[in-house]
Amino acid sequence: MISRAHLKIIPSRWLSFVFALGVLLTIAEVSKHRGSEENLKNISVKTHRGLVSLDELNENVFKKFGYEILEPTVSVPTLRMINEPTCETVFSKWKRISELPQPEYPPNEIPADRMDEFLLYNYTAMNKWYINDKNSAKGERPRNWDKLSDLVKWPRQKLGGLAYGTDGVSIYDAMKFHRLDGKSGVVIGSMQPWVEVSALVHGASKVMTVEYNKLEIQEEFRDRMSSILTIDFVSNWHQYADKFDFAASFSSIEHSGLGRYGDPIDPIGDLREMLKIKCILKPGGLLFLGVPLGTDAIQYNAHRIYGSVRLAMMFYGYEWLGTFSGDTEQPNDLTAERLHSKHLFGMTQNTIVLRKL
Ligand SMILES: *[C@@H]1O[C@H](CO)[C@@H](O)[C@H](O)[C@H]1NC(C)=O
Ligand SMILES: *[C@@H]1O[C@H](CO)[C@@H](O)[C@H](O)[C@H]1NC(C)=O
Repeated sequence: MISRAHLKIIPSRWLSFVFALGVLLTIAEVSKHRGSEENLKNISVKTHRGLVSLDELNENVFKKFGYEILEPTVSVPTLRMINEPTCETVFSKWKRISELPQPEYPPNEIPADRMDEFLLYNYTAMNKWYINDKNSAKGERPRNWDKLSDLVKWPRQKLGGLAYGTDGVSIYDAMKFHRLDGKSGVVIGSMQPWVEVSALVHGASKVMTVEYNKLEIQEEFRDRMSSILTIDFVSNWHQYADKFDFAASFSSIEHSGLGRYGDPIDPIGDLREMLKIKCILKPGGLLFLGVPLGTDAIQYNAHRIYGSVRLAMMFYGYEWLGTFSGDTEQPNDLTAERLHSKHLFGMTQNTIVLRKL
């Protein structure tokens, strides 16, 4: 009632004021947009070809993959997806690709017709490093899933360092900083249960591991920990949509689509993985992500190294909360200097914490 009474007494000069304000805001909006286009030309990020403007990357890379720059943030530009696929599409496409017939041995060359996609239209560097983890006897197998009652007693350095030395400690620190009390989460790809145990010791109430291998979890932990085969998880994804408070993946996504583990060749296997995780996280849910960081590169078929270009696409749909190095317990800014601190093909494997928008 009160607001309606107020409406009646707004004098007409106020209406013209409101109208003028509207026009001004529109002009401001348009010039802001122009300003940002100019900014894209002036802001550059480092690639193996030297500094490249965001404008050039927007046209030659991001738009070709279905993204465009929303904000010219550095060291990683913020993107939007031009037509974001639904979760239904994300999972059904993944399933279709995973069912394609695969060669007996992981291919040691990138298929010629997929070269531009794998190399980000030549904005990523490439060298060769062939590893066969599909049918070689040396392939890694799951370990230590029967030693969980020991692992939960291990201190920071020992537990965090189980699989990846100091780099691995970064996920322990990230989970200590962003405590997981009472939260339920999922770990994507895991040979040894150090990420799962790091989550448990920082309060998580339930952890499920999605793995290509079957895992034998120690009896006493089966009330808190479970595992599911990747194919079963994807087939039943509806059950997990928007369900988890957190997800974690360390040293896994950078391999997706390279065939090294017998997985199907897919230039955007990693980006698909990020979209899948987004689908199963609750809004506001956290993703603890460990991938090799450096200047954009691919060491075929071993792994990808993530720089400003590919990270931008990886981060779509997430807010970037911080980065942990494992050297100190506190998060740091992943500045351009830090990201490119190693020579080309050099890398650090930190834990990046993202929040689903
Ligand atoms: C972009 O760079 C040009 C030439 O270097 C300069 O004249 C212009 O003011 C810059 N624009 C912005 C928005 O910084
Ligand atoms: C990338 O480089 C290769 C080899 O120099 C070339 O054949 C190819 O056309 C380039 N692709 C683009 C999109 O420029």
